[in-house]
Amino acid sequence: MDAPRSHIPVMAGEVVELLGAAPGRQLIDLTAGAGGHSMAFLEAAGAGASVIACDRDAEALSLAEVRLAPFAERVQLEHGDSVSCLARLRKRGVRADAILLDLGVSSMQLDESVRGFSLRTDGPLDMRMDRSQARTAADLLNRASEEELTNILRDFGDEPRAAKLAQSFVERRERRPWRSTGDLRTHVETVLRRRGGKIHPATRVFQALRMAVNAELDLLREALPAALDLLAPGGRLVVISFHSGEDRIVKETFRAFADTQRAELLSRKPLRPTLTEQRRNTRSRSARVRGVAARPRDAS
Ligand SMILES: C[S@@+](CC[C@H](N)C(=O)[O-])C[C@H]1O[C@@H](n2cnc3c(N)ncnc32)[C@H](O)[C@@H]1O
Repeated sequence: MDAPRSHIPVMAGEVVELLGAAPGRQLIDLTAGAGGHSMAFLEAAGAGASVIACDRDAEALSLAEVRLAPFAERVQLEHGDSVSCLARLRKRGVRADAILLDLGVSSMQLDESVRGFSLRTDGPLDMRMDRSQARTAADLLNRASEEELTNILRDFGDEPRAAKLAQSFVERRERRPWRSTGDLRTHVETVLRRRGGKIHPATRVFQALRMAVNAELDLLREALPAALDLLAPGGRLVVISFHSGEDRIVKETFRAFADTQRAELLSRKPLRPTLTEQRRNTRSRSARVRGVAARPRDAS
């Protein structure tokens, strides 16, 4: 197994500033990962600040626990997806000053071939962020209809040859079921007759399957209004997205919050990483950061 890289938090300085880190404030980090942004928030906020760190990946949460150990008495861990974490916190009457969503997968998840997220190494076609979830990427590829697979590749991967690939996946599984990432990668190379180049031809396919297995866009749509509801007046909701579909949902939802006076946009355009950061951390290149501040309820 490859040794996982540690995850570099994207645009940490800008994100912590947008979150309004200050003494005594509480952050709900809905996608804690290795705890990089939570750590940056606690360090910047100073005395009495606290974090509720959520992740649907139990292994990621263990990493966050280790990283955040110096602040252990001010950190609470919650296992679950963003929507279920928010529902639990709401029941407990939590009101936060800041909420963060840093979407997608972490470097650790990508680097562990056994998790099946990466096309660079061979592993099982798994791709579940939460390993207690039933459906894996192999299940999806082996059972979904050709039409469903076409939609997944087109909507989540922007794959121009979605229909051709979906048809080839279904034909192939009739002879031999899908099991491994290496097998999928080779198959896509053969069908699209492309190899090499800057972006591997299977990149879009892997991204689309991951987003479908983890219902990423559905959860995002549901989490944003639930997060706004949990903010104290003036509290900040910040989202880092890496995919045009994600950013569109965030942009449209935040506009709707602003139009209905429920929140104020923190910037009209998304924040982008500096060139220095893009060079230092290639994962940051597609990042877009948007934020809103909750308006007091009686003002709406
Ligand atoms: C990009 S990483 C976050 C990295 C983190 N900000 C850091 O600095 O270490 C995304 C993490 O969010 C988790 N995740 C993605 N979507 C989620 C969701 N809807 N609910 C909860 N966790 C999610 C993934 O399991 C992963 O660990």
